[in-house]
Amino acid sequence: MLDALKDELLSQVNAAGDLAALEEVRVTALGKKGRITGFMKELGGLSPDERRERGQQLNALKDEIAAAIDGRKADLARAHLEARLQAERIDVTLPVRPETEGRIHPISQTIDEMVAIFAEMGFSVAEGPDVEDDFHNFTALNFPPGHPARDMHDTFYLPDAGEKKMLLRTHTSPVQVRTMLNKKPPIRIIAPGRTYRSDYDMTHTPMFHQIEGLVIDEATHMGHLKGCLIEFCRAFFDVDDLPLRFRPSFFPFTEPSAEVDIGCSRKGGELKLGNYGDWLEILGCGMVHPNVLEACGIDSTRYQGFAFGMGIERVAMLKYGIPDLRTFFEADLRWLKHYGFVPLDVPSMAQGLTR
Ligand code: PHE
Repeated sequence: MLDALKDELLSQVNAAGDLAALEEVRVTALGKKGRITGFMKELGGLSPDERRERGQQLNALKDEIAAAIDGRKADLARAHLEARLQAERIDVTLPVRPETEGRIHPISQTIDEMVAIFAEMGFSVAEGPDVEDDFHNFTALNFPPGHPARDMHDTFYLPDAGEKKMLLRTHTSPVQVRTMLNKKPPIRIIAPGRTYRSDYDMTHTPMFHQIEGLVIDEATHMGHLKGCLIEFCRAFFDVDDLPLRFRPSFFPFTEPSAEVDIGCSRKGGELKLGNYGDWLEILGCGMVHPNVLEACGIDSTRYQGFAFGMGIERVAMLKYGIPDLRTFFEADLRWLKHYGFVPLDVPSMAQGLTR
């Protein structure tokens, strides 16, 4: 009789199609009111000999059914997992949906290239605010009162807000001032960023970008300035023998000052960079004026150094053949697609700078 029960229960176990059905079988067989449990309860009414024999049989049956249930449970779990793996499989051979790919703006690209070159020379990047005060933009940079650059014509002044005259910085040179006020020499920084002047035509926009360089220590001289800029220009324009010409010039914050020209050719209306006898101006530079050092709390009898500044759009236009400055800021996606750069193709000295 127990054999018949065993066969019946085992076939129920094997027929259980999910965990709930299996649990039902377990309750039917082994639960408090289960069938095997029922037989167990009857053991009390048997003689000791019968009880021992029957008890052993029932225990064996109980163990066998419990083991069968466990086995079935594992089978069901495996089958469930298998079904999920089949159903949730991703077909990686599907072609991706077409997506528009973004582009890096030539200004960002050019800044990245410049940072890569100067990083190699040990410069770090400094930043300053676009909204400046008169002290950082002019006074500390040795602009005498009444200097034409302070004129309303060039400078965007903010509506008067009391004691401090605020303006949109007209160059990145105030970052020099902020750096010297906050850091003791040796100093070696570049400062790329936005600058503003009230001007608008083919080669001027009211907002444009400059990059500033500043080196201050006890021994840096004009030779270092020349070496640094020659190295930079040749790397940036990717012309190994690019000649540079340093022309005496004037800036209130440098003495001596120079403007730097690079060699080019304009034959046939086409601009080519290299040793062709013609010249193109690209940046301003000089030895930091002692008045600037003193205004920034640096002892000018002990420290000296150089500074340079250049327009980023201007050199980007030169390098990448972009004819009109205004197009940089028109936010035309067709323009960006044409002149922009691939996002993950980050310029570096090791992997190549120029795209
Ligand atoms: N700030 C100058 C300008 O805007 C450029 C410059 C920077 C010149 C540093 C010399 C030294 O024209």
